[in-house]
Amino acid sequence: MSFRKFSSDTDVIDFARHHSDLFAADEPLQVEEIGDGNINFVYRVSGATNSLIIKQALPYVRIIGEGWPLSQDRVRIEAEALQLEAKHCPDLVPEVYRYDAEQCAIVMEDIGAFENLRIAMVQRIKLPLLAEHLGRFLADTLFYTSDLYLNTYEKKELVKGFINPDLCKISEELFFWDPYCDHERNSINTLIRSDAEQLWQDSALKLEVARLKVKFLNQSEALLHGDLHSGSVFANVSGTKIIDPEFAYVGPAGFDIGSIIGNYLLNIAGQANLSGDKAERSDYQQWLLVGIKTLWHTFEQRFREHMLAETRDPSLQLSEYADWYIAELLADSLGYAGTEVIRRTIGLAHVMDIESIEDAERRADSERLALKLGQILIKERAALDSIDQVIDRVLGELYCR
Ligand SMILES: Nc1ncnc2c1ncn2[C@@H]1O[C@H](COP(=O)(O)OP(=O)(O)OP(=O)(O)O)[C@@H](O)[C@H]1O
Ligand SMILES: [Mg+2]
Repeated sequence: MSFRKFSSDTDVIDFARHHSDLFAADEPLQVEEIGDGNINFVYRVSGATNSLIIKQALPYVRIIGEGWPLSQDRVRIEAEALQLEAKHCPDLVPEVYRYDAEQCAIVMEDIGAFENLRIAMVQRIKLPLLAEHLGRFLADTLFYTSDLYLNTYEKKELVKGFINPDLCKISEELFFWDPYCDHERNSINTLIRSDAEQLWQDSALKLEVARLKVKFLNQSEALLHGDLHSGSVFANVSGTKIIDPEFAYVGPAGFDIGSIIGNYLLNIAGQANLSGDKAERSDYQQWLLVGIKTLWHTFEQRFREHMLAETRDPSLQLSEYADWYIAELLADSLGYAGTEVIRRTIGLAHVMDIESIEDAERRADSERLALKLGQILIKERAALDSIDQVIDRVLGELYCR
């Protein structure tokens, strides 16, 4: 049987029965399409006590249609990335039950008990384990897929297996080009049009963005998740799950760290004007800043421990090298955090953290704050040499308003 889109509930149910042993043969099953993303079709199949998720990739972007073709190899990449992540942090990703190459579909664990992090952050829900879990996910997935740990042959195989041009092209354009020019794909609140125009004239900023882009294009450092924004993270008070690594490729480690830090900062900018009590919003901003600190410290400590104890290449075992490496990684992470914040403010894909501010003037205020933070991180990333300095810099921007 060759590839075809699931065309009915029965189709999806037959596929679920065939590719898992979660359900009894005579058990009645239900299916619902739950995909709220842009790119793929996602279904939940439920029986009396169990459920699973099926994600199918079509040869184009779901919400656009055939006008935006996209390689279906992305679903193989997603399945293999989830399986690799599960080797290092099994508790932090949904289990892949089956990947079916012919139907371009993944059958996986239902993580419905966890809340989408973007929604949780807009609702100002505090998740006590989140930052530690994110730091551990980043340290383990990035270290064990880098040349610090893998041998020459393993690393080159990894790079080869995760060549992902279609999805990389999307990031190359949306992160590093569109927001820095008057691109037709951009979406800009008219009240901040002049701020965007000013940013397009800032050649010092554009030079730094070009340097970050070239790293993104060339630095095959570690296997990235590639799309680590708050919509790819699900969490509750007792756990965290990270989904949707279809943008995975071997790139600069700071890109994943920066993407998620950027999403914390987008919420901080949003909280300046979201609805609700001012003291409660400020308190949540503080909680997010502590979260950034915890995330980085967890990452840094664990990554350093891995470097000192498990680096296999003897030429990279110096503790001075670990210090240098981590300092570089912080600077990269801050730079990529800045590009995430800017592209989500004036680029194509915005975030609910700011978009749900109904009043256009207030939304513009949060957008200006986001643009300011993004520019600081990109331009000052080499001078900000500890996470505490970064937090102080952000606090300075929050309190000088
Ligand atoms: N394993 C899962 N368990 C429960 N719900 C899931 C699971 N995987 C996906 N979902 C639901 O489906 C939605 C879309 O999933 P996902 O983000 O993987 O799709 P996508 O089409 O790749 O989206 P995007 O446009 O963000 O790339 C998620 O936001 C979540 O609500
Ligand atoms: Mg996706």
